[in-house]
Amino acid sequence: MKKLDISVIAGDGIGKEVVPEALRVLETIANVHGGLKFDYTHYPWSSEYYIEHGVMMPKNGLDQLSQSDAVFLGAVGDPSLVADHISLGGLLLNIRRGFEQVINIRPAKQVKGIVSPLANPRDFDIMIVRENSEGEYSSSGGRVHSGMDEIVVQNAVFTKKGVSRVMEYAYELARARGGHLTSATKSNGIAHSMPFWDEVLSEISQKHSDIQTTNIHIDALSAFFITKPHTLDVVVASNLFGDILSDIGAAIMGSIGIAPAGNINLNGKYPSMFEPVHGSAPDIYGQGIANPIGQIWTAKMMLDHFGEMEMGKIVLDAIESTMESGIKTADIGGHSNTKEVTDAIIAKIEEQA
Ligand code: NAI
Ligand code: MG
Repeated sequence: MKKLDISVIAGDGIGKEVVPEALRVLETIANVHGGLKFDYTHYPWSSEYYIEHGVMMPKNGLDQLSQSDAVFLGAVGDPSLVADHISLGGLLLNIRRGFEQVINIRPAKQVKGIVSPLANPRDFDIMIVRENSEGEYSSSGGRVHSGMDEIVVQNAVFTKKGVSRVMEYAYELARARGGHLTSATKSNGIAHSMPFWDEVLSEISQKHSDIQTTNIHIDALSAFFITKPHTLDVVVASNLFGDILSDIGAAIMGSIGIAPAGNINLNGKYPSMFEPVHGSAPDIYGQGIANPIGQIWTAKMMLDHFGEMEMGKIVLDAIESTMESGIKTADIGGHSNTKEVTDAIIAKIEEQA
């Protein structure tokens, strides 16, 4: 029996509604399939925790999480209690940075039964691999003078190590999917970092000559996400380009409520963290109508991460057949509530067994 320890942080708002639902699905798939057992440790870290303790997580919080096999997170942020930069910085970013989660992965897939805002989408299935530790989001720079003569410098930092590892990861993923790789560049307009990005790509691609590689400028590639997403498979991108592409990816899927994400630690020193793309949705919290699919698909990504692709596929198939049967939340045009959607997904998984 394979046993996995999961740290669970439901967080704020609808995180508290969708995380328990996703855990019900995880329990079902583990029971149905056998051979796998999850042990959960729940942490109450959230904006409410901040009001009580003055911190988003305790000082030794990372130590507490570090022994687990993965962190499963809902959403963080309740602007009525704590400013967003404090809640996000104190919990989410603290974990991403402290646990060296240097890669962010986000699928953009056409889900059966969910209407894409694209007029005539052909079956698309993209995985965006975003560099998550450096690039355009490095906090290097500063401001000099003030008023009219003010000068601001914001540095983008690209290291051989950071660029190589994200590309290596993307190639391995493309190989595992039997797919191909597209790189997002802008070497025609950004004079130093992007020609370097291309050089590293050229070097790494030689080690992976069995995988087809295409290098496309970010402006054209952004358009291709809209005009021909079915031609893309694994897309590797710098921090900023990957951030924007993954939001376009979530948009063409049909709702932010269904998009999952993983923050991956590569050196094996710390756990990876899985979280949906959406936030705590204070506008709908408490009504029981949040779409649980983002969180449930996030659980599927965690299964894949543990090498349980077969279970991951069963979960995604159950999501799709539930959507096709019309059991959907309001954000994707349905009338069902959070629990009804989860119940239907669980029933589909049990039918499969
Ligand atoms: P949001 O993603 O929470 O909500 C944006 C819109 O999408 C809202 O209208 C919401 O009702 C809807 N929505 C989101 N998830 C949904 C779901 N599962 N089902 C149905 N509808 C859904 O983003 P917003 O409003 O900008 O931020 C709210 C709070 O969440 C803020 O405190 C923000 O900082 C935080 N946040 C946290 C994130 C995280 O924990 N990773 C990511 C984004 C925002
Ligand atoms: Mg973003």
